[in-house]
Amino acid sequence: MGIGFVPVILAILLTLVSSPLYPASRQPVRAHHGVVVSASPIASDVGLHVLKDGGNAVDASIAVGFALAVVYPSAGNIGGGGFMVIHDAHTDKEFSFDFRERAPAAAYRDMYLDRDGEVIPRLSRVGYRASGVPGTVAGYYLAWTRNGTLPWERLVAPSIALAEEGFEVSYSLSQSLKSASDLLSNCSESKRIFLRSGKFIQEGDLFCQPELARTLRLIAELGPEPFYEGEIANLIFNDMQANGGLITKDDLEDYSAILREPIRGSYRDFEIISMGPPSSGGVVLLEMLNMLERFPLSKLGFNSSETIHLKAEVMRRAFADRAEFLGDPDFNDLPIQRLVSKEYARSWTADLRPDWATPSDAISAGQPTAQISEQTTHFSVVDADGNGVATTTTINGSYGSGITIRGAGFLMNNEMDDFSSKPGFPNSYGLIQGQANSIAAGKRPLSAMTPTVVKKDGKLFMVVGSPGGPTIINTVLQVILNVVDFGLTIQEAVDAPRVHHQWKPDVIIAERNAMARDVSDALRARGHAIEIRNSIGDAHSILIQPDGVRLGAPDPRSDSKASGY
Ligand code: DON
Repeated sequence: MGIGFVPVILAILLTLVSSPLYPASRQPVRAHHGVVVSASPIASDVGLHVLKDGGNAVDASIAVGFALAVVYPSAGNIGGGGFMVIHDAHTDKEFSFDFRERAPAAAYRDMYLDRDGEVIPRLSRVGYRASGVPGTVAGYYLAWTRNGTLPWERLVAPSIALAEEGFEVSYSLSQSLKSASDLLSNCSESKRIFLRSGKFIQEGDLFCQPELARTLRLIAELGPEPFYEGEIANLIFNDMQANGGLITKDDLEDYSAILREPIRGSYRDFEIISMGPPSSGGVVLLEMLNMLERFPLSKLGFNSSETIHLKAEVMRRAFADRAEFLGDPDFNDLPIQRLVSKEYARSWTADLRPDWATPSDAISAGQPTAQISEQTTHFSVVDADGNGVATTTTINGSYGSGITIRGAGFLMNNEMDDFSSKPGFPNSYGLIQGQANSIAAGKRPLSAMTPTVVKKDGKLFMVVGSPGGPTIINTVLQVILNVVDFGLTIQEAVDAPRVHHQWKPDVIIAERNAMARDVSDALRARGHAIEIRNSIGDAHSILIQPDGVRLGAPDPRSDSKASGY
């Protein structure tokens, strides 16, 4: 070998070591001041304008949320609920808002069972009885009263314009509406507005929503009052009354969003701050991170069979706990501190074997006291002052219950399906859940939404979250691992193929490109079953570099956009 080859070979080796595992779909958006990342380019631009007008990250998040209610009707909403986790740069504190839906007062444990005690799944998923009392408007208003800086009307105004003047329908929205035509045809108001009475809304059409514009105008002018006590409340109640729904005026009036302490923990050198109950997100995420901290993931390698095996094993254990222990904290005594402790993770991993999958049937929850729709949406915002806001919001299934409130122009959620209709019976995400999450009047159904902020050296480092039902928590987990353990850039971390396990069914669900053949063979040899799914999650994330540059990483799995300045 000639002497000239040595430097060439060294250079090739160096490139192999330092280059990404595969190219990212694009470069993240670099912003020196603020950045907004959401599933809709229109909504991200709305948020950017709010930031440029001097609004902070909370202001921008509220405006994005309202805009998504217009341009992303499968998940953006005012008829649903969600969670917001905030890092406040001025006080260096984090807090969270819970605006999860509540079961109406007339709800009761066995409301979705027939006379023989069998579950009627359609009842909790489609139509008027599937909805909880919506929390979104109350949640955004609470966030604004505590942390907003711009006038409230300014934050709602862009969504009014989008609803009134219309916006150009993208290919994906036209397809998504068509694919929901069975669900939306159940309700004449939904059919008229969202399916143009069967003529369908085509790519490039201008989509105007005059009823929704009027509803939003009332909210802009008067805050949440019309929604929970006034004109919109009347429309909701009348529609419910006429169609066998349960939500009453008292239910609406009784609703309030709640300021809650987020769940906190650490993973290696990073602080993790995420949503606590009634979301399971933060608890399950920390349980998994605590278990994984015990293994040298970076040595085992990104998506090697060893790593995927470990991920699946910790996912199955944490999801078993979710099923057993978690529910609305206002209705249960939840063993949260024990579940998220490092000591508990140690005991949970004691029987974890590197060479063999633990059958889920052999796992019941630990001893702490001793087809899926991809519709929900997450957006991340960081502003010039360094405030960070992670918001995940949903009407549960794509287009929720399929019901549009007559005269008000918005879709209602089918969040009641997130309760356990009957212990042991899977909900629409295949989740088996227990008594802690049974239905009761005024209770909030257990969620998997995981809006999360990560800090490093005491400073805001990442803002993350995702839709995807139970896959949400595992998506957030993997974005964090990809950055922390595998050294991926934030865009690579978001793009990277994902896997999912939720205890039951006992199967690893993997994106098509997640495993090479030898990897899946090695996993099957350990006893894992594997199923392929086209897409898992939609994790619009932000990472702040040490030099302060904000990197906005939209997830290529949707028509997402990062808008920054
Ligand atoms: O709160 C929850 O966990 C679910 N309602 C979220 C639903 C969801 O993410 C749907 N998207 N795939």
